[in-house]
Amino acid sequence: MQHDPDDKEIIEQILSIKEALGEKLLILTHHYQRKEIVDLGNYRGDSFGLSQKAAAHKGARFIVFCGVHFMAESAEILSQPHQTVQIPDLEAGCWMADMADIQTVERAWGEVTSIAESVMPIVYMNSGADLKAFCGRHGGTVCTSSNAPAAFRWGLSQREKVFFFPDLHLGRNTGNQMGIRPEEMIVWKPEEPLGGNTTESIKKAKVVLWDGYCLVHTRFRVEHVLKMRERFPHAKIVVHPECTQEVVALADAVGSTSFIVKYVENALPSTTIIVGTEINLINRLALENPDKNVLDLHYSLCPNMAKINVKNLLWALENIGQVNVITVPKGIKTDARMALNRMLALAPETTLQRNRESVSERHVGT
Ligand code: 13P
Ligand code: SF4
Repeated sequence: MQHDPDDKEIIEQILSIKEALGEKLLILTHHYQRKEIVDLGNYRGDSFGLSQKAAAHKGARFIVFCGVHFMAESAEILSQPHQTVQIPDLEAGCWMADMADIQTVERAWGEVTSIAESVMPIVYMNSGADLKAFCGRHGGTVCTSSNAPAAFRWGLSQREKVFFFPDLHLGRNTGNQMGIRPEEMIVWKPEEPLGGNTTESIKKAKVVLWDGYCLVHTRFRVEHVLKMRERFPHAKIVVHPECTQEVVALADAVGSTSFIVKYVENALPSTTIIVGTEINLINRLALENPDKNVLDLHYSLCPNMAKINVKNLLWALENIGQVNVITVPKGIKTDARMALNRMLALAPETTLQRNRESVSERHVGT
């Protein structure tokens, strides 16, 4: 890939700092990062995989997280006291994570549990540390899109209901995948009394879904799927579970970021695969799988992920351990770590295994 001359120089500087710090430095890059950032990292992955790396690399003194804030914060929670976690731009947030705050969640929790006693709180990784801590305190867990079904199964094996926040669509698609009936899933609108529900509907519900969403993944619409099906009748369409259930219903496969990566890698040569997720990942998949025709369902960029660039990565490295260091208050950290450790124990294998079978058996052809 061609870089602008300034970037080329910056990349060389980054590489020389990396070499000088050696094993002391760990650069983690999310799949939605631009290619030049991913190329500079020690590992690329989804939020689950990168949490595992952060927890496992106890020898690294400095962790630089190229992703969004909640991911770096989770790495900090799982890291050791002698480690620092930095993010190249503190403004790289997540709109969905901002859709649930601790006061509103605590109020909703109070209302739900005054009607139903046996409720398991499960929070999506895309959330603040205080919400993860809330789940830790109440016996709940964190999940990512790669282990959401395992987390829901785990929750429902212990309590009668799951209270899931903040992504309505991941929650609903997970419930659908598990065969939970639509009338057993209610939406909690935080600004309305009882979340816009009745006492009766809350009693009957198996799953309570917070009314939050990802602006990047809800940009995909049914008409995009229909248009692409018409243009490429033999193509396979794979989408992320943050998409609406209507889009998911028309796709050939749905799965987490890692699942999408594997889906494309496992497809037979010459397959046309149309992908409904963040554009930086799709562009990289197209480059790395030149024997396949990888296309986007519709252009959708995450501007938060795109805030990380080689300039601010170099700045973080030049000021290693000093700037944009993520800190989490001790009490919150202890409880949030409990919930994150429960998540790490709910490995994504079950889901991936089943999905892998479905890749070869049902979805990927020529
Ligand atoms: P992953 O958990 O698959 O890495 O995705 C995070 C995310 O923000 C998706 O929009
Ligand atoms: Fe958040 Fe959506 Fe960006 Fe993921 S793609 S980080 S959910 S805004």
